[in-house]
Amino acid sequence: MNSLFDLEQEDARVRHDALSKEIRRHDALYYQNDAPEISDAEYDKLRQELEALEAKHPELIHAESPTQKVGAAPSKGFKKVRHAVPMLSLSNVFSEEDVSDFLTRIRKFLSLSETDPLEILAEPKIDGLSCSLRYENRELVMAATRGDGAEGEDITANVKTIGDVPQSLPSNAPDILEVRGEIYMGRAAFEQLNKRQEEEGKNVFANPRNAAAGSVRQLNSEITAGRELGFFGYALGEVSVSIGETQKEVREKLKSWGFTESEHYFCVSLAEVMDVYEDILEKRPDLEYEIDGIVYKVNRLDYQERLGFVARSPRWATAHKFPAEQAITRLTAIDIQVGRTGALTPVARLEPVTVCGVVVSNATLHNEDEIKRKDIRIGDLVVIQRAGDVIPQVVKVLDDRRDGSEKEFEVVEECPICHSLAIREEGEAVRRCTGGLICEAQAVERLKHFVSRLAFDIEGLGDKIIKDFWECELVRSPVDIFTLEERNKDTLTPIRAKEGWGDLSEKNLFESINDRREIEFNRFIYALGIRQIGEATAKMLAARYGNLEVLREAMIEAQSHESEAYQALIDIDGIGAAMADDLIGFFAEDHNLEVLDGLAQQITIKPFERQQIAESPVTGKTVVFTGKLVQFSRQEAKAKAEVLGAKVAGSVSKKTDYVVAGEDSGSKLKKAQELGVTVLNEDEWLELIKG
Ligand code: IVH
Repeated sequence: MNSLFDLEQEDARVRHDALSKEIRRHDALYYQNDAPEISDAEYDKLRQELEALEAKHPELIHAESPTQKVGAAPSKGFKKVRHAVPMLSLSNVFSEEDVSDFLTRIRKFLSLSETDPLEILAEPKIDGLSCSLRYENRELVMAATRGDGAEGEDITANVKTIGDVPQSLPSNAPDILEVRGEIYMGRAAFEQLNKRQEEEGKNVFANPRNAAAGSVRQLNSEITAGRELGFFGYALGEVSVSIGETQKEVREKLKSWGFTESEHYFCVSLAEVMDVYEDILEKRPDLEYEIDGIVYKVNRLDYQERLGFVARSPRWATAHKFPAEQAITRLTAIDIQVGRTGALTPVARLEPVTVCGVVVSNATLHNEDEIKRKDIRIGDLVVIQRAGDVIPQVVKVLDDRRDGSEKEFEVVEECPICHSLAIREEGEAVRRCTGGLICEAQAVERLKHFVSRLAFDIEGLGDKIIKDFWECELVRSPVDIFTLEERNKDTLTPIRAKEGWGDLSEKNLFESINDRREIEFNRFIYALGIRQIGEATAKMLAARYGNLEVLREAMIEAQSHESEAYQALIDIDGIGAAMADDLIGFFAEDHNLEVLDGLAQQITIKPFERQQIAESPVTGKTVVFTGKLVQFSRQEAKAKAEVLGAKVAGSVSKKTDYVVAGEDSGSKLKKAQELGVTVLNEDEWLELIKG
């Protein structure tokens, strides 16, 4: 038998990698999940082998090695990283005709005649999250998420725990190599993870993609290590030397360097492309991982280069999306869910049915009109569909299969939880509970929202735990979350009686709460869960008001519609009168202000940091865009102006500095002329911002 000391350098490195990974996995199973798979003695043996290996090969010791770590120090958030080459997304096609247009456009662009060959490589579109791996001198130095395409998050520590990701490359790989691909979770791993989450009272993931994303977004990479993730490489970012002339060659090279490759198909005609599509569509349910379409790529890299990009997607590739998957099942009941703003949403309970590998037992019914329109009755056989990430929906009822026993849905006029009146206002599709503060369902939903991913993002405070805390009266307001630890031990006793709760969960929970005592202002606004104030609006408000004190004062002043503060609020492009009322209403309630004061004692809110390149000619100026712009969308124009430090308003006033008028500008242009505000056309605007 080979003794450890006979291992050659390369073998030692490989073994070191494997051992480290294995130990990290067992650490996570032991510490995070309370579910060790091996005995202590077996675990010690692994550690001893690693230590012996490092003693013999000290060059293998690095900061990430399990021998260098005592426990796990969770890092604070993720560092931002700029991509050397932007990470793009793909345009979509849905039919044979679209595919044919795609191929025709390419031929035209490249001036190919009908007889010139155009090779296409078809690859499954993996439903995960894209990641860019950067190797320098053949060592993995950085793994980053796509982010907004220009800038992503540094997830290196987590990605290093993924078995499919080589930590280093053989000597024939270039000095600089960025491999782009998809991190995903296989179906079996997904089912297992959800089972575990459920047992531990944590949130279950809606689909494998969310599970994969949630797993790499862990601040503690030992948790990631305990999740079974895979990686398929499919594209390149920066490379110091060319590694092939075609997409196929690139894939083959990557494979030879240890990357895992999904299958791919070589096609030379529309007919062949469509055959592949049909073929993979058929195989889809049997694949070990979820895919949501097929990606077609021009095989020749010199063609790719010439074709270039439009907006954010390449002209040389497109994604052929699969149609939504449908299934037939029986609707057994209609329950009412109460949201954080009191909206009552009817939910269909279904006999569980598998739709493309995922078991579906609920579907949204949106609102009572929808039920009426589709004539959905309890006991009906229904066609449901699941498309990508969206919540399953009821498409239609099979009314010819009724036997008369089906029951019509009766509109609920009171909140099923607090029994307050539920009313539907004139012109509104939604019925709302009027219980406000006394409605437990709303309060619990607000708390869930407060800790959710885009808000405070507190790992370990899943829906079930929030509910348990509520029931034990330990957490009744957001402030209570941050005082939990200090009220610790005795007061936590009631929760300890709950199933799945132990010292370890308590310790982990306090750690993740303490990790979040600092929050960006925009996330904070979003966390408040004010009606109509979503992530984007929260960002807009954060950018405009900068910090909480300024926002709070302005909202209090804006209670008078005559005030300047009110005018300034509704002047923000994208904030209408109804939204303004919800905002002002929130700050008009004493109990909300009390929560804000309480939170101020517990947390730090980081003022909004403007993404600004430098002083620009429009910094601090107020700009209004009106009419049809032809060179860019309104959205793009607005984003650009904001990056340059301008404020974009929705209406013209004395305070407006510039009105940028496109075609068919109407009343705003007129008003600008009346007020003597400078009016620019698109070209003049572009000239101005060029500086
Ligand atoms: S190529 C410049 N190939 O789909 C082209 N993307 O909707 C970059 N995806 O952001 C993408 N499988 O996350 C490519 N075989 C594949 C893919 C794939 C999945 C994802 C990727 C991308 C998204 C675009």
